[in-house]
Amino acid sequence: MEKIKLCCPCHFGLESVLKFEVTKLGGEEITVSDGKVSFTGGIEMIARANICLATAERVLVELGSFRAESFEQLFEGTTALPLERFIGKTDAFPVKGHSINSKLHSIPDCQRIIKKAASKRLGGRYGVTWLEESGAVHQMQFNILKDICTVYLDTSGQGLHKRGYRKNSNSAPIKETLAAGLIDLARVRSDSIVCDPMCGSGTLLIEAAYKALGIAPGLRRSFAAQEWQQIPEEVWKEERSRALGLARQEAAFKAFGSDIDPEAVDLTVENARKAGVLSRMEIRERDVKNFTPPEGAITVCNPPYGERLLDIRAAEELYKRLGERLHPDAKHPCVIISPDENFETHFGKKADKKRKLYNGMIKCDLYMYFK
Ligand SMILES: C[S@@+](CC[C@H](N)C(=O)[O-])C[C@H]1O[C@@H](n2cnc3c(N)ncnc32)[C@H](O)[C@@H]1O
Repeated sequence: MEKIKLCCPCHFGLESVLKFEVTKLGGEEITVSDGKVSFTGGIEMIARANICLATAERVLVELGSFRAESFEQLFEGTTALPLERFIGKTDAFPVKGHSINSKLHSIPDCQRIIKKAASKRLGGRYGVTWLEESGAVHQMQFNILKDICTVYLDTSGQGLHKRGYRKNSNSAPIKETLAAGLIDLARVRSDSIVCDPMCGSGTLLIEAAYKALGIAPGLRRSFAAQEWQQIPEEVWKEERSRALGLARQEAAFKAFGSDIDPEAVDLTVENARKAGVLSRMEIRERDVKNFTPPEGAITVCNPPYGERLLDIRAAEELYKRLGERLHPDAKHPCVIISPDENFETHFGKKADKKRKLYNGMIKCDLYMYFK
């Protein structure tokens, strides 16, 4: 069977979590670098990875890499790529990308050259001088890093954090893919009890439910490559039913969420209902100062960060309240994400382990307590 090379970008700090997910899916020749995991698999792996991966931002087909210090090299390198393997005669192939620390730095010029080269290759293969581009979108993406250009095709379309359950969010929701990473690092299992005393729109609790119940995060949405003629519809059907077969509806998982804001409580309920996991949750309005973790529960939390000085003081006060209520130990582990380097001082306990993570552009630490 023909092997395809795939590349999945992820949040910085979640590479090892994503690597483990890819291994479980059956990915082969896995390699990890900053912010991404690459691997190979058959054509079905495109569908499987899109449907099942919880911490990947998207699934890209890696078409090839070459040195590109000049526009000539960029043109020649692109025309040598096997574009017709995926892009059909009438398919659309827009181009976007970026360049870092390289001689070729004008993005519009690189886009133009790659488009021209791809058109030449495809026109030659299909024996036409004009490509109508009226068919399925095959987004080309280039990444030039230190003069090495890598060209990808995006199979996901919308980013994979868009699960289809969170139409609504409060002002500072955590991205679903990052939330899934936190849940993995918190060691949530099928029989876990999980709580979030500042649940916002409920993302951490919903991702915890997905992990515990074995619900594939992509089951409620579609992907760009579903429109590609090169991947038979049957493959998507098979992979969806494979993923459905992995669900563990009998799991004992339970989640408890609370928030001081009644609108956040309503949002969590609505999003959990959309995600199909509301029956596993108890959500209520409550100030964290009155919170007590349920017996044996894992606490996961993404407290407000505070951007202005006044808000920062309020955030520090909240970390203190959390510390007074949580008293983590082996039976009541907790993981809290915060950009505050003095978090442990406010919380009142040194973390058993810290892990650097990026929440978008914000450098954070995941403070992990499990002893
Ligand atoms: C950064 S948001 C959490 C976002 C959430 N993880 C999500 O994905 O939507 C922080 C939440 O803490 C809540 N909060 C602030 N002060 C609180 C308090 N004293 N007690 C409980 N919740 C509080 C806010 O209402 C807000 O929803």
